[in-house]
This record gives sequence, structure tokens and C-alpha cells, in this order.
Amino acid sequence: MSNNKKQHKVLVLLGSPRKNGNSNILAREIAAGAESVGAAVESLFIQGMDIKACQACWSCQKPDSKGCAIKDDMQEIFPKLIEADSWVIATPVHWFNMSTQTKLWLDRCFALSKYGDNPFNKKIAIAIAYGDADPYASGAVNAIRSFQDSFRYVGAEITGVVYGSALEKGDMEKNEAVLKAARKLGEKLAG
Ligand SMILES: Cc1cc2nc3c(=O)[nH]c(=O)nc-3n(C[C@H](O)[C@H](O)[C@H](O)COP(=O)(O)O)c2cc1C
Repeated sequence: MSNNKKQHKVLVLLGSPRKNGNSNILAREIAAGAESVGAAVESLFIQGMDIKACQACWSCQKPDSKGCAIKDDMQEIFPKLIEADSWVIATPVHWFNMSTQTKLWLDRCFALSKYGDNPFNKKIAIAIAYGDADPYASGAVNAIRSFQDSFRYVGAEITGVVYGSALEKGDMEKNEAVLKAARKLGEKLAG
């Protein structure tokens, strides 16, 4: 018997400058959860890409615009963002909010509507790592609030948020509860 259900596509945006850092560990678990229910996962390490800051030229908002005026790696990322059914956004807390790397691509999503129809018809999972013991004192709540406001504005669904305290690279491996929550979130995202 053939299974005609389209495979769920997940795009993971790794927003830490640290490769395999703590937010990456959470994203890895979300991805594993999504894969366990049949999703295809692609990950992008943003730090390694050429993503310039939005220039506020507004050219992407003009009716006859063909897209973002900045010709950098975002031109390859826009179609991937459109094609994915879900996004996983992984970020450390840097100075009480999401990382600069994460904010760079998020700002550039202003142009996304020029690359496909219904560009924010997505399910979104968010993974956050921070060094302080407390999610309020750390600023993780500011990052969560920024994502909530952004995705409410564009009408995207936040399926879930996982967050945990971990300072040194790899510390997140010790937090079994949040790793388990991340895996479950991946299953929910793609299930
Ligand atoms: C520049 C910088 C700023 C940071 N700012 C904060 C902060 O405001 N609050 C906090 O709790 N941790 C802060 N941290 C600690 C990181 O959030 C923590 O090490 C986290 O595990 C990093 O995740 P990653 O491994 O995914 O990069 C900061 C770290 C760096 C390098």
C-alpha cells in the first residue's frame, strides 16, 4: 500500500556562534523527535553564513518587488524557509535576549512574502540556552517574548518552547528533563 502523505520538512536555524553548543543540543533533540515520526530535517549554522543586517531600504515591501535587495546567503535561505513546514529556532541568550546571529535572519524575514505564498504558515519550535539559573534573570523570557510578538504579528504558530540553564559548552547534556521535553516537542512539531 502506498503512503501518499507528504513528508514533513523541518528547517533548523542554529543561532549560536558555538558549534554543538547548548542551544544546538536542544535543537538536535527536537530534530531527533521530528525524525522519529518521519520528518526530513535540514540544519543551517547561521554563524557560518553571510547574513547581513536588514538595511531598512523597504524595497522588499514595494508591490513590484522581487525580494530582498541584499544579495547574500539569505537568498538561498528564503526558499528553504518557504519550503519547510516547520522551523526550529535555536538560540543562546546573549545580553538578555536572542543572539545577534538569530536576530539577523529574523529581521530579514521581512522580505519573506516575496519568495512564496503564505510564508508564515509554519509550526515553530524554539530552543533557548542561558547561563543564569533563572529564566527571568537570564533574559530568556525576553527572547521568548520577542519570538511570541514576532510570530503573533505574522500569524505563525509557536508549537512549543524548550529552555534550560547551561553555561559551559555541553552542559545541556546533563539536563535530562529538558532534553526529553525537546524530543517530545520535535514529535509534536512533525507528528
Ligand atoms: C556574549 C555573551 C552574552 C551572554 N549573555 C547572557 C545573558 O544575558 N544571560 C544569561 O543567562 N547567559 C548569558 N550568556 C551565557 C550563555 O547564554 C550560555 O553560555 C549558553 O549556554 C550559550 O548557549 P550556546 O552554547 O548554544 O551558545 C552569555 C554568553 C555570551 C558569550
